[in-house]
Amino acid sequence: MADIDNLKDTKDYFLDVPVQPAQTNVRGANALDWGMQNRLSRIFGPGSGKTVMLAVDHGYFQGPTAGLERVDLTIVPLLQNADALMCTRGILRSTIPSSLQSGVVLRASGGPSILKEMSNEHIAVDMDDAARLNVAAVAVQVFIGGEFETQSVHNMTRLVDAGLGRGIPVLGVTAVGKDMVRDARYFRLACRICAELGAQFVKTYYVAEGFETVTASCPVPVVMAGGKKLPELEALTMAYRAVQEGAAGVDMGRNIFQSDAPVAMIQAVNKVVHDAMKPKQAFELFKSLRREHVGIRV
Ligand code: R5P
Repeated sequence: MADIDNLKDTKDYFLDVPVQPAQTNVRGANALDWGMQNRLSRIFGPGSGKTVMLAVDHGYFQGPTAGLERVDLTIVPLLQNADALMCTRGILRSTIPSSLQSGVVLRASGGPSILKEMSNEHIAVDMDDAARLNVAAVAVQVFIGGEFETQSVHNMTRLVDAGLGRGIPVLGVTAVGKDMVRDARYFRLACRICAELGAQFVKTYYVAEGFETVTASCPVPVVMAGGKKLPELEALTMAYRAVQEGAAGVDMGRNIFQSDAPVAMIQAVNKVVHDAMKPKQAFELFKSLRREHVGIRV
């Protein structure tokens, strides 16, 4: 039994201070349960409220991608610079240290490889397993306009239902087929559908014209997808513009791990996302950090 002798009288009621509501700084998340808000805060930190996610889930459809041949050697050293890691449960269990402090966004859809129709995905992770892995969110590909559009949307809505039951948020990833136009009109449509049907945040590509209309019309955070490898200054410029135009951060893979100096690149991306560092300044930072890392594997 607790020692209850000489209990102190209560007195500090601060009657002149209104009770402070506990609020999240994540867009659209105020009505979510505490556990889900807590998980989202592992992705969107309390500081800037933005995120630098490191995407390394490519192997789930394309095998050992360039830069991901040895995740233990090339990705693990980057983790301390990532707010969140997007990966599969296979890589998580086999290769990522369980002492990881960053939020994990677990790839939860899959099925076809690059050799087949990519939109023919199914749910690939049970929410119980996501809970066992203590992930911050699960990610599902949504193929708006794709051959298996309805099936992929249904994958997402089933994960949203299961996620609400466990307090695990869902990231809707807008996938673009080979023949689809990548413009603001398409991404407004795709992002809004994901949010309307319950995704707690959305990942989508940057477009030079009208990206601010994509973020403005999406009631949950939009995270910019990295896409194909660009020269570092271009990638930093794209990330800067996306955040200035309303993105809640970035989820970049190849533009970080295929850089010739991935640690320098992820540190420069952090500055752009969290401190609004201008792209040219971030590129100078990248070059000076790269010099420091000469001779080091990553
Ligand atoms: C597919 O669409 C996945 O989300 C990717 O495997 C990955 O996240 C893409 O990252 P990046 O295009 O930045 O290399």
